[in-house]
Amino acid sequence: MIIEPKTRGFICTTAHPKGCEKNILNQIDYIKSKGTLKNAKKVLVIGASTGFGLASRITSAFGSNASTIGVFFEKPPSEGRTATSGWYNTAAFEKAAHKEDIYAKSINGDAFSNEIKEKTIQLIKEDLGKIDLVIYSLASPVRTHPETGVRYKSTLKPIGSSYTNKTVDFHTGEVKEITIEPSTGQDIENTVTVMGGEDWEMWINALKKENLLSSDFKTVAYSYIGPELTKPVYRNGTIGKAKDHLESTAFTITNSLKEINGKAFVSVNKALVTQSSSAIPVIPLYISLLYKIMKEEGVQEGCIEQIYRLFSERLYLENVPTDQQGRIRIDDWEMRDDIQEKVSKLWNEASTETLPVIGDLEGYTTEFFNLFGFKFEGIDYENEVDEMVYIPGLV
Ligand code: NAI
Repeated sequence: MIIEPKTRGFICTTAHPKGCEKNILNQIDYIKSKGTLKNAKKVLVIGASTGFGLASRITSAFGSNASTIGVFFEKPPSEGRTATSGWYNTAAFEKAAHKEDIYAKSINGDAFSNEIKEKTIQLIKEDLGKIDLVIYSLASPVRTHPETGVRYKSTLKPIGSSYTNKTVDFHTGEVKEITIEPSTGQDIENTVTVMGGEDWEMWINALKKENLLSSDFKTVAYSYIGPELTKPVYRNGTIGKAKDHLESTAFTITNSLKEINGKAFVSVNKALVTQSSSAIPVIPLYISLLYKIMKEEGVQEGCIEQIYRLFSERLYLENVPTDQQGRIRIDDWEMRDDIQEKVSKLWNEASTETLPVIGDLEGYTTEFFNLFGFKFEGIDYENEVDEMVYIPGLV
């Protein structure tokens, strides 16, 4: 079929297999251009099909020849209907890995469930024995609790009072004011249940119980802080409470891994265009201004550059550098004082008329479409393409 982008709100409901493959090959080329990393050899990535999790899987496989198992929740294709981009990404990743005899298998299903945990444990037992690294990179709006069956929904709301600020509809370029009403009822608890650390801890406990963690094992989950500007809706909002919980869970997990000298870390990453971040009001405007400045300063990074820096300059150093709260920081360039000052100045000036000039709206939009395999050079989007792509190592 001929596949075109079809957008609905902040999502794109189609994906292009050839474009997704291009996206993967570009990331693989980047990692290969950096030489060999002395990292983990057996890696489980939970949330492995897009964004930071996908970049972590690519960095492990092509940076240190690691065997990887990826867990994710994606839609397969059906005749005349494309798969989600994470499906095509994984197919392309596995194809490239297998070509170089690098072990890669994948599990598609709800990572919050007992069933998927058990399936993953079985696969590790059969194929890998023990694992050295677990990357926890889930971003989900809902979670069905495995013990109670209750389905929780996360929210992106300020706490205490409403929040009004500018945002951009990146499809039309319109900058307008929005007001987000504060959380009510169980919003905070629900968001913590979905995006906090409970499921991360459940995964590590389940793996530990089966004796599947190697000595010196590491696990990393991803967090975000961001500037003052977005604090009411992000770090001081409902999602921020979930991130507080995730960050404190790192200490609980580390305590539970003492016998094997294991360690759990949270890495605070930079704001980037991913399927998850484009859903958060205000953030797309912030990102388009931030990109402009970071590109001008020569310090712009995407997921793959960020994760390469995490692996090569943080996680595998003798003493892992952290901030006072014990967090790894790879948002250091985003949070540089000079960069933040410039962004807040531009924020005041941002309007529908000025944004195309003072911000990188075009960069934002291109990256958004890239997530779904569109707008890549060298791909002929007018050509017929087979949507029925399979993932070779899907278990
Ligand atoms: P993403 O949306 O690109 O990736 C999410 C992954 O989770 C996908 O592989 C998806 O298939 C998987 N997933 C979602 N629900 C699932 C479920 N029930 N079972 C199995 N897999 C499931 O998200 P992104 O942006 O890479 O986020 C990953 C982590 O990084 C999140 O914790 C996010 O808060 C954090 N982060 C994101 C930043 C950003 O700007 N995008 C900045 C800093 C941290």
